[in-house]
Amino acid sequence: MKNKSKYLADLFIGQSTVFIDVIQRIDKIAEFSVPVFVYGETGTGKELCAQAIHNLSRRSNKPFVAINCGSIPDTLIENELFGHVKGAYTDAQSNSGGVIAHADGGTLFLDEVDTLSQKGQVSLLRFIQEKEYKPLGTNQPFHSDVRIICATNADILSKINTGEFRQDLFFRLNIMDVHLPPLRDRGQDIELLAEYFINKHCDVYNIPGKTIHPDALKNLQRYSWPGNVRELEHALLKEILLADTPTLYLNNLESQYTKQQQDLAQMKPLFDLDFREAKEKTVMSFEKNYLDNMMKKTAGNVTKAAELAGTERRAFGKLLKKHGLIRSYYASFAC
Ligand SMILES: Nc1ncnc2c1ncn2[C@@H]1O[C@H](COP(=O)(O)OP(=O)(O)OP(=O)(O)O)[C@@H](O)[C@H]1O
Ligand SMILES: [Mg+2]
Repeated sequence: MKNKSKYLADLFIGQSTVFIDVIQRIDKIAEFSVPVFVYGETGTGKELCAQAIHNLSRRSNKPFVAINCGSIPDTLIENELFGHVKGAYTDAQSNSGGVIAHADGGTLFLDEVDTLSQKGQVSLLRFIQEKEYKPLGTNQPFHSDVRIICATNADILSKINTGEFRQDLFFRLNIMDVHLPPLRDRGQDIELLAEYFINKHCDVYNIPGKTIHPDALKNLQRYSWPGNVRELEHALLKEILLADTPTLYLNNLESQYTKQQQDLAQMKPLFDLDFREAKEKTVMSFEKNYLDNMMKKTAGNVTKAAELAGTERRAFGKLLKKHGLIRSYYASFAC
């Protein structure tokens, strides 16, 4: 692609420092045909990111095949990945390729990869190791050259810790990683995104241009956006379609989403526990968030992180272990 930077800037709206770092990272890693693991809360743009990596790579004229791992039942996973030959089972009336065959030469996007069943994880691991697969019903191996991009909005390290996700598979998929920041950490970008979505939807629905009232903008910037960019886009679309005036006041947002309400909602499950349990849960969650933050700040340098935290390195290391935090996971965070 001739003008990679323009393509990225047009696709990904945002100029906050955290977001620019991510865009530059996508730009850098796209051309190398290695697996990429994309992390981020729901609606932060993980699929957009996977598509961008594909479009910027030398594989762009080959297929981009996306599957949602959570939607495939365990019994069908091998069929979905590897396909089958005629007669492999009662309903198999002809040969049918799986996603690995369809994505040959291109990119296979495994969305919600953390939901892949144990059987699916083993099958995928075998394919990655051997670069070959056997469709159901035959012993003949086939070769497919696919670049795998995975995404998750789950806490994958906890899942590795509990044995739900295989560590050996994780290390093979997590060669390059991209962490999309939640919208609440990109306060500066909200105005830009809001303008972008307002123009886009006014165009699509042929509605005269609208602007946001400054107070409404402040509310947008205060809200924590659990559904991230998707939630912002939908909130604005609703307002654009319903508002009778050229100015958007977003009164609904104001009443629905005050900061206090969100904090209360987050704490509510704790109020159902006894005091000791509630305190224990809060401390555990604080510890994990605190460690996670320090590790991100220091790009996984345990000595530096312990120093920042004012604790001994050994004690800090013990805490990391207790919470199942893996040092290498943080290596790509900018210090
Ligand atoms: N920075 C951005 N600029 C413009 N649009 C964006 C940006 N980030 C996300 N979007 C848009 O927000 C919507 C959600 O993005 P996407 O589907 O990629 O999120 P996701 O992280 O895959 O979410 P989920 O985990 O729920 O599947 C899409 O319509 C996407 O085009
Ligand atoms: Mg998605």
